[in-house]
Amino acid sequence: MAMKIERLTPLLGAEVTGIDLAAPLDADTHKRLYAAWIEHAVLVIRNQKLTPPQFAQAARLFGDLMQQQLAKFTLPDCPEVGTISSRDLPVVDGKLHVRGENYHTDHSNFPEPPKATMLHAVSLPSKGGDTQFVDVRAAFDQLPEEMRRKLVKLRSPHVYESSHSPRKMAALSPEERAKVPQTLQPLVIRHPESGRAALYLNTGRMEGIEGMPQDEAFRLIDQLYTHATQPKYEYRHAWRAGDLVIWDNRSVMHQANADFDPSEYRFLYRIMLKGAPLQPVAD
Ligand code: SIN
Repeated sequence: MAMKIERLTPLLGAEVTGIDLAAPLDADTHKRLYAAWIEHAVLVIRNQKLTPPQFAQAARLFGDLMQQQLAKFTLPDCPEVGTISSRDLPVVDGKLHVRGENYHTDHSNFPEPPKATMLHAVSLPSKGGDTQFVDVRAAFDQLPEEMRRKLVKLRSPHVYESSHSPRKMAALSPEERAKVPQTLQPLVIRHPESGRAALYLNTGRMEGIEGMPQDEAFRLIDQLYTHATQPKYEYRHAWRAGDLVIWDNRSVMHQANADFDPSEYRFLYRIMLKGAPLQPVAD
């Protein structure tokens, strides 16, 4: 069976078929798979059926595993694998309160945010529960030049939960809260492997912009968020049984959807891969 990689949209996302990640990959297939992930930023690898340890092994094809922040959302006998379960979520006014229901990039308040996040579908609702992605590389490229020149000089403090956050972050135990970092991140980052520039945004965590009055800073953040989340930058993933999706947190933002029947079970395994400090475009 030969691996096949096909684009899902002109800007981002590719579908991969013809591989079984439960078995070892030869060096050439591994190299092509990794290169496709860097280029397309989101890979949808179809028809996988992985146990949690097999999922962890498959994740190591792309990097080193990062420890999960919230111990309560991990598998007791395989703690490097996190879980996203509809049964962990409260129902508010007949609708599930899902984690991640606005575009964001994971753990942007960490000095070394995860380079990738991976999900493997275990149980899916009959409809809804898609995951959306937007290409923040293309969003940056398509800004007017003057704006790009201004943005590359800016940095933003990222905290656990911004005072302007559009969503409530998960409640933390005192021990978890004590470990939560906050950090300054460039507003535009340079991808360490592709060299492409990208907007680095997370409205849930950005607490303004360094050296800018708060009202002006939050207006700019909102303007950039509105620009970057236009449908022309989007790939919307409708989950199928057996899907394994890996995305590059330095190239895309993602969001979850709570538009499925709360009585149906949605359960996915989740792994994040260790990242490095983010590089600004202009030094
Ligand atoms: C996430 O934000 O990592 C969750 C994505 C999803 O559940 O669709």
